[in-house]
Amino acid sequence: MVSALQSWPEPVVRVQSLSDSGINCIPDCYVKPIYDRPSSLDSNQPNNSNNIPVIDLAALYSDDLSLRKTTMDLISEACREWGFFQLINHGVSHDLMAATRRVWREFFHLPLEVKQEYANSPTTYEGYGSRLGVEKGAKLDWSDYFFLHFLPLHIRNQSKWPAHPQSCRELVSKYNEEVVKVCGKLMKIFSLNLGLEEEYLENAFGGGDQIGTSLRVNFYPKCPQPDLTLGISPHSDPGGITVLLQDDHVSGLQVRKDNAWLTVKPIPNAFIINLADQLQVVSNAQYKSVEHRVIVNSNQERVSLAFFYNPRGDILIEPAKQLLLTNNEAPRYQPMTFNEYRSFIRLNGLHGKSQVNSLKSPR
Ligand code: OGA
Ligand code: NI
Repeated sequence: MVSALQSWPEPVVRVQSLSDSGINCIPDCYVKPIYDRPSSLDSNQPNNSNNIPVIDLAALYSDDLSLRKTTMDLISEACREWGFFQLINHGVSHDLMAATRRVWREFFHLPLEVKQEYANSPTTYEGYGSRLGVEKGAKLDWSDYFFLHFLPLHIRNQSKWPAHPQSCRELVSKYNEEVVKVCGKLMKIFSLNLGLEEEYLENAFGGGDQIGTSLRVNFYPKCPQPDLTLGISPHSDPGGITVLLQDDHVSGLQVRKDNAWLTVKPIPNAFIINLADQLQVVSNAQYKSVEHRVIVNSNQERVSLAFFYNPRGDILIEPAKQLLLTNNEAPRYQPMTFNEYRSFIRLNGLHGKSQVNSLKSPR
């Protein structure tokens, strides 16, 4: 299996180069089957207020006890009903967020030769990439990305991060450090809301300095035929929590809700939080990782920073025993390490929620 992962099955084409070349028709490998196109389960959103919840994190630390309680309840409901919410007043400097996003936009606008120095391979995915999965002839997504590891410290290798623009490495470190703190808070909140000890989820993920985190910066170039393709195919994120920073004014992210795709409206300076598969497993499906995808458009490029907060790779992740006891439930999932879990996606690419569903215990 390892050898199958060492190189891409076809020559890598940068979507940005295709877009810049001024083509009017996208190559066949980006044309999705009709049922996968953006119009499928269309998000005719008659009611615009029907969008993902907005949570004010500062309210959780206010002196007003009832406000704190209401906020905990709002988060609980968001986790159970949506698996997605926007987080405001999260404590991360808006300037730092904007600067980090700006530096990545600049990176993607560097000449191709510069970016190619960071070309990635399917062994670790670190670096500059344009596909996920190694299936020959697979339909591809209309995006390029940069993927880097941040924690645990021993796998952080800054020499694999962009050396240009010059402030990139420093900004990314600062930004990631701040986002890790937000995730730490959320892990506590989720634990308490599930009726577990405050540190439960963090410990279940391998504890303090063993947590795995990485950053995937997505670049969605303009697309001459946005109705035929997707920026990212439907998937749920494999890890624990994802913190997404999207462009303030260009939408594209869609969340699957009651069999329709809802476009998430950007709120400037907010983070989009989404619960990923390992939280579904630990919570025995009280929380659900939710399918999402990205649509592209013909007149504006889009940049997003997806920060992944994951369990340590080599410990078994399984439904919390205490939850099973309290709720008198059978475990819905078999234990599996995150490394094993993730290798499936790295080999096969994104396929909705098929991976977490395949983990189900026979009942
Ligand atoms: C991801 C993702 C959404 C976006 O990178 O996993 O879902 O809006 N990104 O770019
Ligand atoms: Ni995602």
